[in-house]
Amino acid sequence: MKDILTAPFVREMGETTANMYRLGWDERNGGNISYMLDKDEAAEYLDLGRVLRTIPTGFDAAPLAGRLFIVTGTGKYFKNVQKDPETNLGVIRIAQDGTTAELLWGYADGGRFTSELPAHLMSHMARLSVDPENRVVMHSHPTHTLAMNYVHELDERKFTHTLWEMCTECIVVFPDGVGVLPWMLCGTNAIGQATAEKMKEYRLVIWGMHGIYGAGRTMDETFGLIETVEKAAQIYMLTCGRPRLNTIRDDQLRELAEAFGVDYRRDFLDPERGQAKAGQQAANQQG
Ligand code: 13P
Ligand code: ZN
Repeated sequence: MKDILTAPFVREMGETTANMYRLGWDERNGGNISYMLDKDEAAEYLDLGRVLRTIPTGFDAAPLAGRLFIVTGTGKYFKNVQKDPETNLGVIRIAQDGTTAELLWGYADGGRFTSELPAHLMSHMARLSVDPENRVVMHSHPTHTLAMNYVHELDERKFTHTLWEMCTECIVVFPDGVGVLPWMLCGTNAIGQATAEKMKEYRLVIWGMHGIYGAGRTMDETFGLIETVEKAAQIYMLTCGRPRLNTIRDDQLRELAEAFGVDYRRDFLDPERGQAKAGQQAANQQG
């Protein structure tokens, strides 16, 4: 049996949480990650027949029965994951009953998985139903994204459109847009269900006045989605309240999406908006 501390999935969890902490997105115990593991790969590092303890999840995740996940622990600080993975992370398997997690490794101080497990596992189920290759669900509190929640309408069409306007790469990176939930009580099955409903349509979901969820096939893809939203939100926060002299027009967003061949939310672009803004920009330049 190989040493689990050398497993790529443990290393990736350590590197990602360290990056997120360093970027200031995950203060204290803020944020959580769940990563679905390949059973054969996990078996190189773990005795899959040895269950350390069982922990009830409080919801039904029957479609994930038998699946393995490495998950950050509740109350654990992202800044500490790399130096002590066995305390701050755990590997769980969803039992056949769908409502019990079998702990195979980790949470060494008697801890348990993140309080946001409902949103994570329900999001995994939703994403897998539309993309069987989905593996990662990530929650974070990125600073500028959160700041933007206080000064921008929490409407998914308007929020996505503003983000797309902020950096040329945005519509290419998240052409499917960003789902938005109002403020809700976190750590509950209700917010889990609401997040999963959005995840059928979006890989990114804003939790109003709280943070963001991202989902993807790899850790890099998922991190990159949140990172790109955060960059756009930063540009927005640096420019909002100042006279806007230039923008990326809707016809240019469309040109970008078509040049890169991405399937974008056409209904998030107003067919007349590009023309109106183009006219306004021309008038600004003349005036
Ligand atoms: P956990 O410490 O339970 O993972 O919660 C952190 C968090 O971000 C809640 O939304
Ligand atoms: Zn949170």
